[in-house]
Formats: sequence, structure tokens, C-alpha cells
Amino acid sequence: MVDMAHTTVAHISGIAAHEGCEVTLRGWLHNRRSSGRIHFLTLRDGTGFIQAVMSKAAVGEDVFRQADHLGQETAIRIHGLVRADARAPGGYEIDVAQLEQVGPSQDYPITPKEHGVEYLLDHRHLWLRTERQQAILRIRHEVIDSIRTFFNERGFVLVDTPILTPAACEGTTTLFPVPYFDTATAFLTQSGQLYNEANAMALGRVYCFGPTFRAEKSKTRRHLTEFWMVEPEMAYAALDDVMALGEELVAAVIGRVLANRRRELAVLERDTAPLERIRTPFPRVSYDEAVEILRQRGLPFEWGGDFGSPDETALAEHFDQPVIVHRFPAAAKAFYMKADPQRPEASLSVDVLAPEGYGEIIGGGQREDDYDVLCERVRAHDLPEDTFSWYLDLRRYGSVPHGGFGMGVERVVAWMCGLAHVREAIPYPRMLHRLTP
Ligand code: 4AD
Ligand code: MG
Repeated sequence: MVDMAHTTVAHISGIAAHEGCEVTLRGWLHNRRSSGRIHFLTLRDGTGFIQAVMSKAAVGEDVFRQADHLGQETAIRIHGLVRADARAPGGYEIDVAQLEQVGPSQDYPITPKEHGVEYLLDHRHLWLRTERQQAILRIRHEVIDSIRTFFNERGFVLVDTPILTPAACEGTTTLFPVPYFDTATAFLTQSGQLYNEANAMALGRVYCFGPTFRAEKSKTRRHLTEFWMVEPEMAYAALDDVMALGEELVAAVIGRVLANRRRELAVLERDTAPLERIRTPFPRVSYDEAVEILRQRGLPFEWGGDFGSPDETALAEHFDQPVIVHRFPAAAKAFYMKADPQRPEASLSVDVLAPEGYGEIIGGGQREDDYDVLCERVRAHDLPEDTFSWYLDLRRYGSVPHGGFGMGVERVVAWMCGLAHVREAIPYPRMLHRLTP
């Protein structure tokens, strides 16, 4: 018997380096089938999956019989010889010389048969162990890392914004209140933007990246109540700069996912052709032009409102590329948007719409930088002036044109992965009817 504590530990993702050597793998039993004198054990260790072949001849009667009773997801350590095998999915197999049970598992709730999505969501803490969910989480990791790299390489400074806030940013109807000791009510942040604007006046170009919360009672495949948003903000910037930055960011994220996550995209059976077709510059249309396109395509659209998801789908389909829509009606957007000096009923706002039905992934624009106009807006939107006095200060002390946007991570991940719903794009989705596990 080898003492596994004193052997070479390998990870499945790096198994090629150990060909012809004996190693120890530590993981969980994903699947098991037997043919009389041989057990085929699929081991997963978080970095990948590998078939471990255990013959009665190699391990002896007792260990062989023990393996008959190992349930799915039993934690095991195995020791054996790494062997190249052209037929194996990862190119290698391991011949088991020794097996040790670390933690038992019986009657695992998620079996290889089909389960309904509500059942899977109830077991999200275990569902994450499947190959598909692991692939999604790795792509999410890549998306987040590519976003951070993108901003860091361009000299943006990461400045964190608070999650407990005293006031609304995106609209008062979608806030989660939190009792704040005995005297006050705080709200979970909807966006770090207002603080980002202050940070940009301090550091020039900044971004925040964290969880944000929306209490809207939406039950669509694009809405979560808790989601992650990256928000860049730039001093001395106009709407055009905001659009250019959004376009570059989206292109950079796609590039990184395609370059580094081929294996995961294949696990998800994602057709990558629509992603590979994407080219900058993205088509840019004004809201007015977009309305015209919708009407031409037979969608009855009234000037003035925000786009619904069928409208967004139709627009992106029209171009078969991500589409940048700018200058929405001021009435359809938040209080802080700067009015278009050419046409005050329009705002210097922008949305980026993803193709393939994924819709809005970016929302932003140029901010109102005039003190008097902004005071007027705060009043017109019935916002508490005292809680916004610090925000108004930014227009009193060295106000400059500035702007930025927010990009929702889950919508981007859902799009990259080709998911039908954003709920699989976040480890523990929070939705109208789901707060567990
Ligand atoms: O368009 P939104 O509401 O814009 C803002 O919050 C601005 N304050 C951002 C800024 O300018 N700094 O949200 C931005 C993005 C959307 O385009 C979408 O990708 C995502 O956040 N998003 C959601 N994702 C999942 N579930 C929801 N309920 C979302 N709401 C917005
Ligand atoms: Mg929006």
C-alpha cells in the first residue's frame, strides 16, 4: 500500500504532464459503471473529469467490492498510473492502484436523469457540480477577469461604492429597504453611479464593480433582483467617449472568452459563429432611427417609451451585430441624464443591445453637469433634495462634462454562454420568487 499523503498530487486539468507516472487525484465520484471485473469510475476534481479504470486484478477482491457501493459524489482519493488514451475525452485515463473514501455520499439528489429547473434551482448548491454549470462559472470568471483587465490596462482606478445607501439612483420604485438601526431606513444600491461621479472628479477615470439590487417585480429571463454590474465613469468625457468605451469593452470581453474558453463553450454546445462574426465599430443609431427601423419591420412602436425586449431583439436582428442606440427621450431615462442641447426632449443616453435576443447589456450616458438644471431635475423627480445635496456639490465645485455606463455581468455571461435565462449566469440567483439556497 502506498501512503497517498506522500505521493505526487495532480489536478485533472494538468494531467498531461504526468503521463506514465503514478499520481494521486483528489475529487468526487461523478459516475460509475461496471463490467464484471472492471469498474469505470468518472472522477471530477473541479478542474476537469477523468475516467479511472479499476480492475479486480489490480486492487484485489475487497477494494473492488467496496467500490461497488460508492454513491455518486462520494469524495475519493485515487492513486494510479496516468496513461494516454486517444479515445478518452481528455486524452488520458488513470489505472487505479488504490482508492480511499474521504467522505461518503448516498442518494445524491441530482442524478444523470433529467430534472425540472425549479428542482435544480432548489438544489443550486449541488447543481453547481455538474459539468455544464462549471463551464458557465468558468466563463463568468473569464468575463469578470477580462473586464478588470480591460479597465486596469487603460488606467481606470477601481473605487468601491457603498451597498447601503440613503437614496435611489435609478428610480424610487425599485428599491430594497433595509432597517438601519432605530432611526433610519437604508436602501440596497441600484447602481454605484452617483458615487462614481464623485470618484471620477477625484481620480479622473474610475470604475466600480459589485453587486447591485433591483426590487422591480419582473419575471423575465433577463432580470435578477441581485446582479453584478461594472460601471466606468470618466471626467471630461462626452456621449461619444462613453459609446466608444462601451464598444471596446464588449469587443474585448468577447475576444477573451473566444480565446480562452473554447472547451467550456463546447461543453455548453454554444454555436460560436455569431460571436465570431462580431466586428467593431458596432452600428450606431439614434433612438429616432431605431423607432423607424422597428416600424419598418412591422412593430407598432410609439415614440417616447423605452424599448421592450421584442423591440431590442428586432433591432439587434436587423444588424446581426451589437447595436448602440443613443439619445433616448429624456422622459424615458433617469433624472441625471444630460439633455441633448440640440433637442432638449432627447437625452445624451446610450444603450448597447446584444444580438441573438439578449437585449440591453449596457446602459449609460453623459450626466447633467449644470447645477441649476440638475436642481430642477431633482425637484421634478420628487427626490429628497437634502440626500442629494452632496451629489449637487459635484456641480458646484469644478463641474465638468462627464459620463459612463453600467454593464450587467449576468446578461453578458448569458449571451456568451447562449443561456436561455440569466438565472444560470450567477452562482446563487435571486429572483422575484427565489431567495434560496
Ligand atoms: O440601465 P441600467 O439600469 O443603468 C444604470 O444603473 C446606470 N446607473 C449605470 C451607469 O450609467 N453607471 O443598468 C445597467 C445594466 C443594464 O444594461 C443591464 O445589463 C444590467 O445593468 N441590468 C440588469 N441585469 C440583470 N437583472 C436586472 N434586473 C438588471 N437591471 C439592469
Ligand atoms: Mg437601462
